[in-house]
Amino acid sequence: MNIIHISAECYPVAKVGGLADVVGALPKYQSNTKNKAQVIMPFYDNKFTKQHKFTSIYNSELKLGENSYSFKVLVLEDNVLDFDIFFIDIPRLLFKDYVYSFNDTERFLAFQVATLDWLLTWDKYPDIIHCHDHHTGLIPFMLQESFKYETFRKIPNVLTIHNAQYQGWFSHDDVKLIPDFNFNHVGLLDWDGQINPLAAAIKCAWSVTTVSPSYMEELKFKANGLEHLLSAESAKCTGILNGIDWKVWNTETDTYIKKQYAINTIASGKKANKQYLCDTFNLDIDKPLFAFIGRLVGEKGSDLFPETFKNSLDKGDANILLLGSGNTIVEEELKKLKEPYAGIYNAFIGYDETLSHIIYAGADFLLMPSRVEPCGLNQMYSLRYGTIPIVRSIGGLKDTVIDIAKPDGFGICHENTEVSEINTAIDRAVKLYENKTKFNKIRKQIMGINHSWNASAKAYIKLYESIN
Ligand code: ADP
Ligand code: GLC
Repeated sequence: MNIIHISAECYPVAKVGGLADVVGALPKYQSNTKNKAQVIMPFYDNKFTKQHKFTSIYNSELKLGENSYSFKVLVLEDNVLDFDIFFIDIPRLLFKDYVYSFNDTERFLAFQVATLDWLLTWDKYPDIIHCHDHHTGLIPFMLQESFKYETFRKIPNVLTIHNAQYQGWFSHDDVKLIPDFNFNHVGLLDWDGQINPLAAAIKCAWSVTTVSPSYMEELKFKANGLEHLLSAESAKCTGILNGIDWKVWNTETDTYIKKQYAINTIASGKKANKQYLCDTFNLDIDKPLFAFIGRLVGEKGSDLFPETFKNSLDKGDANILLLGSGNTIVEEELKKLKEPYAGIYNAFIGYDETLSHIIYAGADFLLMPSRVEPCGLNQMYSLRYGTIPIVRSIGGLKDTVIDIAKPDGFGICHENTEVSEINTAIDRAVKLYENKTKFNKIRKQIMGINHSWNASAKAYIKLYESIN
């Protein structure tokens, strides 16, 4: 089977969050003697594209309504990824130093049209087109409805919803940007009076997946307005838990971390990484280190961090280190805590891949009090690095973390994203840290949990076969 993944992000080329990690890993695990998985993504103006050389393999022009844009398809000259990756270069729209901005309708629509225009020139069409999130959500509609893509009608296609909060809404006034289709079917694009690319994909894709079984269930009741649609389409919807890239996230070979380690050297390995963090961020090596890594947005519960952190830090028995960026008010409040809590608290506001690996390695606990968490990869990285996750039991967090009070439990879970519950969870963690025998046993136990992509990559192949 030839599988094409179409996505706005792919690690290590361009990453905003977990979507990149998934699209950068899943194709590796899907490629074997029987299947080949390839990725098509936009060409951005970023560090990766500056550091690599590309060759153009196709040149053309695309139309969005009245406007024309020239575009190219590029391939990497050096083979640095374990799968083929193609870049859609639309200089006037996509080539920016960011992935997303406030008005991406034209950018991502142009990306999708260019991708399909180019696929039309292929001698043999792909066996599966796999779209990720709303940025590629108009593809299932265009495959089914646009006159110029009539020859694609029989290509099975899949939509994976990584996050249903973002749907790519735009006004009906811009429907003219979509390549011509039978206007009687415009309702397929509409949800609540707007063009909704995610809803259109849910209606038109042959199969819809999301990134954990629990999130699939939750979407029927809480999907930012798409609850009824997801319930109505539930027959073609499945939840498949994400995996993690076992090669990239490997404490024995990770070149970002300060000291590599395995299960039997966990104590010295984690201590060396914690020491580095404590030296760099002025923290106390003798106290447990709680970390947060992620986007500072409501979904992650970050608006509650300033109050929660103050409550815990006032007790004086914990360090907290945060790596993240997002809401500027929250960023400012988190920065303000640095001075009064110097010695036990610090925050790095920004994005830093290297530092994130060191934190997974050096922290004792990872906080994830998410309001919404379709899967969450951080808790799986943290498990792999022997860092105990503290999570709100929701979505993928519910599917991957069992509370220590339960048989074989290894994490700390709370029911709601509320300050008092997060503080109680931190208190439980401090107690666990003090019980060195139990703490060390759990750290070793979690490093042995296998969340590699192997099983889930197979589940996707099975799904493709069922619609082929
Ligand atoms: P989401 O995609 O909702 O942001 P995930 O848990 O799926 O959440 O994935 C987040 C990914 O982004 C992880 O690889 C995490 O390590 C990384 N990440 C998030 N924020 C930062 C940051 N500020 N610096 C470095 N890596 C980050
Ligand atoms: C989204 C979700 C996150 C998930 C990631 C990868 O960004 O917010 O929970 O892990 O996609 O699927």
